Amino acid sequence: MSSTQRQGLTPPPFPEPISQAQTCEEQFLHHIFVRDQMAEWSKRPLIMARADGVYYWDVQGKRYLDALSGIYVVAVGHNNRRVIEAIRRQMDVLNFSPPMHGTNPVAIQLANVLAELAPGDLSTVKFQCGGSEIIEGAIKLARQYHKLTGSPAKYKIIGRYLSWHGSTLGALSASGLSSRKTVHQPLAPGFLHVFPPTCYRCPFGKTYPECGITCATIVNDVIEMEDPDTVAALIVEPIGHTGGIIDPPEGYLPILREICDRHNVLLIFDEIITGIGRTGNMFAAETFGVMPDVLCLGKGLASGYAPLSALICRQSIADKFWGPLSENPGFVEGHTFEGNPISCAAGLAVLQEVIQNDLCGNARIQGARLRAGLEGLANKYAIIGDIRGKGLFQGIEFVQDRATKARFPAQQAFGVHVGKRALENGMLCRFDPHWIALGPPLVSTAEQIEEMVQILDRSLSEVLATGPG
Ligand SMILES: Cc1ncc(COP(=O)(O)O)c(C=O)c1O
Repeated sequence: MSSTQRQGLTPPPFPEPISQAQTCEEQFLHHIFVRDQMAEWSKRPLIMARADGVYYWDVQGKRYLDALSGIYVVAVGHNNRRVIEAIRRQMDVLNFSPPMHGTNPVAIQLANVLAELAPGDLSTVKFQCGGSEIIEGAIKLARQYHKLTGSPAKYKIIGRYLSWHGSTLGALSASGLSSRKTVHQPLAPGFLHVFPPTCYRCPFGKTYPECGITCATIVNDVIEMEDPDTVAALIVEPIGHTGGIIDPPEGYLPILREICDRHNVLLIFDEIITGIGRTGNMFAAETFGVMPDVLCLGKGLASGYAPLSALICRQSIADKFWGPLSENPGFVEGHTFEGNPISCAAGLAVLQEVIQNDLCGNARIQGARLRAGLEGLANKYAIIGDIRGKGLFQGIEFVQDRATKARFPAQQAFGVHVGKRALENGMLCRFDPHWIALGPPLVSTAEQIEEMVQILDRSLSEVLATGPG
């Protein structure tokens, strides 16, 4: 930019945008951080150009079956006309309302719809944009609630190892995934962790049900050792994701509920993946029949059409945030884009789609089909050690030896090779060195689920035939 332009005599020219076809050229990739390892990613960059239904197309025109809903986001499928039209209509009316001065009609409507849909007395909603932001909100709500109710020393948050609650420092501190935490340490104080219910590899060396669900009952001991007067909340994903789809055994979540009640500890469900139909009910809380005190939603809530997350808390908690200004400052938490009208309009339209098309029912039906398909693969491939999940949230853990459950060496990254082969074969799934997971859109048909299983079958046989690498 010339100094004359800087002085404002001539408006600076807008930089020429590169063409879509050029976006995959290496020189342009150096100007963007992606989530992946940059140097590796840029060798074969995946750049999605468009999407429709359960398919993506990359900038080269290659089609991918989206067996992951992007990343458990696009619940109602891509290019959903109802959601797009709802956003268009909202854009003509109100794009942004002043968050420091109140809210807007669509946010109030969506809060009321969520209060209606949520189980029990979960009835008061706070909106944000992303999952991490809403987890921060849930942590703050728990701490402020205890301060308002005469237990100001209750501040500790118990999370679980292998969990993921988000990238912001509070959510990261609650998370239990060392591979994403160590590089950012030291993290926030006041967070501790317990073992999740990884029955396939019980950390206590026990077997369900004889174990008496030690991984749940021991939370009571942890709280007592810490001093219950210092513990504010326990946060869990009803089905853990990043540990390889950790589906709790029957009885696990009810025990956590009972322990939390005993010690006046709030139970927070992170339903950012499991919410909005994924496990076959609107909320995993219904699938497991356990009511949290705070339920967090993200991802599927607006299905990726706009950024939107929400927490829903029980009436008894929300009530404590009312009262005269002299006694109560309200919920001290806010972000500029919370309750954005475009996002809320998208959320309302998504919920209409989910309910009117019974996508929870479809998640149950297609989830059973997917599970049966994966079990068929397990009969064929001895390297499938375990299959876990509910509804359209299913994962498989790989083992080198099924009898001993011995894993492939970490550096072999077997699951990564399977996931990358699936990409080459035109399907998107979530992969990790020891497991892969599928989370197709809730609109997926029987044929599309069958195709996902077939592509996985082909990918497994190719990786086993050629060896990873
Ligand atoms: C269970 C869970 N909680 C929280 C988050 C954080 O959400 P976001 O990435 O939208 O901040 C994620 C994201 O993957 C998640 O899977």
